[in-house]
Amino acid sequence: MKKTFGVLLLAIPLLIQAQPEAGPKDLLKSDFHKEKRAELRAKMPDNSVAVFFSNAIRNRANDVDFLYHQDPNFFYLTGHKEPHSVLMVFKETQNINDNTLNEIIFVRGHDVLRELYDGPRLGKDGADDKLAIQVAFENPSFKDFNIDFSKFDKVLFYDFKNDVRNTEEEGDLFDLIEQFKQKSGYKQGELAIEPQKNNLDVVSLDRIMRQLRGVKTKEELDLIRKAVDISTIGQREVMKAMKPGMSEAEIQGIHEFVFKKYGAEYEGYPSIVGAGNHGCILHYIDNYKPAIEDGELILMDLGAEYHGYTADVTRTIPVNGTFTKEQKLIYDLVYEAQQAAADSCKAGLPFTALYETTAKIVNEGLVELGLYKSLKDEDIINPETGRNRYYPHGCCHHIGLDVHDKGLYGTLEENMTITIEPGIYIPKDSPADKKWWDIPVRIEDDYLITKDGCELLSDKAPRRSDEIEKLMKETSIFTDYELPPLKSED
Ligand code: GLY
Ligand code: MN
Ligand code: MN
Repeated sequence: MKKTFGVLLLAIPLLIQAQPEAGPKDLLKSDFHKEKRAELRAKMPDNSVAVFFSNAIRNRANDVDFLYHQDPNFFYLTGHKEPHSVLMVFKETQNINDNTLNEIIFVRGHDVLRELYDGPRLGKDGADDKLAIQVAFENPSFKDFNIDFSKFDKVLFYDFKNDVRNTEEEGDLFDLIEQFKQKSGYKQGELAIEPQKNNLDVVSLDRIMRQLRGVKTKEELDLIRKAVDISTIGQREVMKAMKPGMSEAEIQGIHEFVFKKYGAEYEGYPSIVGAGNHGCILHYIDNYKPAIEDGELILMDLGAEYHGYTADVTRTIPVNGTFTKEQKLIYDLVYEAQQAAADSCKAGLPFTALYETTAKIVNEGLVELGLYKSLKDEDIINPETGRNRYYPHGCCHHIGLDVHDKGLYGTLEENMTITIEPGIYIPKDSPADKKWWDIPVRIEDDYLITKDGCELLSDKAPRRSDEIEKLMKETSIFTDYELPPLKSED
């Protein structure tokens, strides 16, 4: 017995070693972030430094914070997901505090008690080990970091929103920002009036980050493809499970369950699930309707976020599985507009052409259906909003680390990832004939721009009205599932 125990003890270290490392295998590697810092450095002007701060922790109420979300620029350049950090990237190699460096990060140090509650921190040791940034220090030492910002021709950074709380922790984000302001000669409000004042510059960095982030690399595309695939599987399951009487929140729950099941950590933005008139509220996120009614359309705009990258996919479907005549006319018009824009998509096309293509088809179609009297502005523009009455939003944006991702909006380039998302929304009490009321339609898909065209990434979820009706006849694991009644409902 004793012997067996001894053998077992001996085997434990081997067993531990043999365990695969916990967590996903397809996270971005430190080399990716290092390469992005090198690309940033290459685009920075001579004798400059770029300074990036991590995102603030936002308080939800009392002692509960919102889920922390790293600033996407900060994540892109570091892979570091923790708060209270600052990164500096230098154009040229510097000698500061006996260190020779062209980049430095200040991160939170360890705190045994806080780590008991919130989980492990990277600390300086982890930063040295995992981030591949030349020099890492703990954030309290930023105070005594002997950097003379006045010697740079340009100090590039994003201006502050002044909405960061001061905590008791030394070297927290509040302290880092205050110390940076002192060291750099930042004066409150000055850059809001003149964004390039002395050597401080709060405009140029954004253009560089847009150039970098707007064009995706292979590693990013792999993650975006996965986020989009997951989102479209969610849309498919809901199409099969949908029936009148379900609640908007229940539909949202099915999508988000599918996201989690496939390893997506979060939603890339608050899920939009709006039936009937709710779908006419462009960013409706209350999702509170308890029982979706027979005959309604439901607009579902949801995107899974996978390792930081988000999809943005909208499907609009008839709750009972069959579009009414009016719903189908509007749906097919939006589809035609989207498809025409997708057909025109390729590197070199101006971004604005995509909106123009969709708006032309939508406006002409609405004139044909009698919803607009003519193509004149006075018949199309709603004077209260200054927008196209039934197609009041833009058509396309970059997707990536942000749902409305950083990118330039001049011409399309190879390896940009964008949405095409025309919509028509006819709310109750609009000037249209009543038969058109409560029809919201948005069709939103994600595309990869290629040299000669574009690749539809979200093709797993059907888009054509007949294909949607066909899929809705199938069943899903969420069809007719049952949970026990609540005690209060017995
Ligand atoms: N989900 C927000 C948008 O489509 O832009
Ligand atoms: Mn979108
Ligand atoms: Mn969307």
